[in-house]
Amino acid sequence: LHNMDRGWLGTPIDELNRMPQCAPPLSHLKVVPNHTVTVRTDLLREGEVPVPYPTKFKDAWDDVSVKMPCSEKNLFPMETEDGGGVQSRWELIHTALQGGFKKRSHLTILLLQCLFFPTLSSLQCLELCEAQHLFEVVLPAMVSLALSAPRLCTLPIPLLKSRMNHSLTMSQEQIACLLANAFFCTFPRRNSRKSEYCNYPEINFYRLFEGSSSRKIEKLKTLLCYFRRVSQIRPKGLVTFTRQMVNNPPNWESSQTQLTRLHITCEGTIEDDGYGMLQVDFANRFVGGGVTGHGLVQEEIRFLINPELIVSRLFTEAMEYNECLIITGTEQYSKYSGYAESYKWKESHTDETDDWQRRCTEIVAIDALKFRHFLEQFLPEKMVRELNKAYCGFFRSNTNSKHLSAVATGNWGCGAFGGDTRLKALIQLMAAAEAGRDMAYFTFGDAQLMRDVHEIHTFLTGRKVTVGRLYSLLNQYSSTVCKNCRTTRPDESLYSFIYQKVSSQTATDALKSAKDSG
Ligand code: AR6
Repeated sequence: LHNMDRGWLGTPIDELNRMPQCAPPLSHLKVVPNHTVTVRTDLLREGEVPVPYPTKFKDAWDDVSVKMPCSEKNLFPMETEDGGGVQSRWELIHTALQGGFKKRSHLTILLLQCLFFPTLSSLQCLELCEAQHLFEVVLPAMVSLALSAPRLCTLPIPLLKSRMNHSLTMSQEQIACLLANAFFCTFPRRNSRKSEYCNYPEINFYRLFEGSSSRKIEKLKTLLCYFRRVSQIRPKGLVTFTRQMVNNPPNWESSQTQLTRLHITCEGTIEDDGYGMLQVDFANRFVGGGVTGHGLVQEEIRFLINPELIVSRLFTEAMEYNECLIITGTEQYSKYSGYAESYKWKESHTDETDDWQRRCTEIVAIDALKFRHFLEQFLPEKMVRELNKAYCGFFRSNTNSKHLSAVATGNWGCGAFGGDTRLKALIQLMAAAEAGRDMAYFTFGDAQLMRDVHEIHTFLTGRKVTVGRLYSLLNQYSSTVCKNCRTTRPDESLYSFIYQKVSSQTATDALKSAKDSG
């Protein structure tokens, strides 16, 4: 096949490491000081639903744990005849949810719209059945799931705050319970942007029920598919959330590391074709970005089809420049088509990813910088920030390179955040090299980008250009081309600058050695 006709270039994807094949034997799941586990690890059995730990609900209403709707401290101020009083909010929630759904409430109307939208089915009777199923089966099941919080989510959930290196493992069932509460908007102190949780993402779903744009309808369909599935069959897996901070980033300038292998394709997606790899979530510093609101690009879509990701919004404080969130074990429940405005929920999806009480799907949330002007991203401090952020996401301590899966990524920071794909591809390649991982890059349909990145990668590896050398080339481009640029974009592209510099260096070297030997 001619290269021009190929949908991919570089290393064949099957030669790259995937989990679980590349993993070293897993040690037993253990509770250690920096890992909170909310299930009984001694009772874990394949094919059985994990048992919550501890047995009885442990209440915590402090600034290191998630404030639960079922806490006895969750009180509602009441106006009474003899002045003020308080009432248990959890009791109010019980009453409200068990009272059923009023025929004309906004939620009901929206849910109906969700079902009766023309795309779902052309058969009226089927739709009626579905509506009936939703109101008689799915919603009541979601209510009982939400109300089982004091029985399922018994251990206080630690807040993963900034600068904490901490892991949290929960069962998929516990997550379903928390998400049902998020759906019914029961999490206290989380409805105002000005509260103690102002540095946390939104968790209650109330903004999803505002308005009835087709985006919101499709989002709801995707989420309802998840709730239907988890209420039909209790999920049995575990999910781990790890907040990771890197204190000692590489010294980019002096790095002698060579670039690793690259598979690049203009076909397929990170989630479909990057199975078993470290899959990059093009994140917002508030993880999940606009998933509970209007947003519907890469991160939000991933959070919708793998809704267990959404629960990270409950406890993950906004990420700092040197932090990331790694989520292992979430399940994909839906298939979708389209993107952004054209996004559509397609159908329920059966996730075949290897199951070891925890699906081996590993997703890392790294937030790129948002650029308003093209030239901004070539400022040395911005390039270092992006290098360190990507490195933080890719690096794993105490793991041999041969046991690390490849990074499955793409145009990180280059859509909503306005970055340059050519620069970001190099930055990610440098970070992956330092972290000792190969890369599968999905250009999302861009065949020219595929050829350009493949060509420069081949050129750089062929000439054994180190990460350090590449770093100094980026800085030279910044100081010689970008700094003096009077237009919005430089005349000379980054890649042609690199080709020219490296080639002329090689020519000088050749001349020198010819002189020396002559
Ligand atoms: N697989 C591979 N590539 C993809 C996929 C996919 N499934 N989906 C999209 N792309 P964007 P950003 C490509 O804009 O610029 C969210 O609101 C496609 O070329 O989502 O980092 C977050 O919460 C797309 O243009 O990422 C943040 O607030 C490009 O990836 C913000 O957006 C970038 O996708 C992050 O914006």
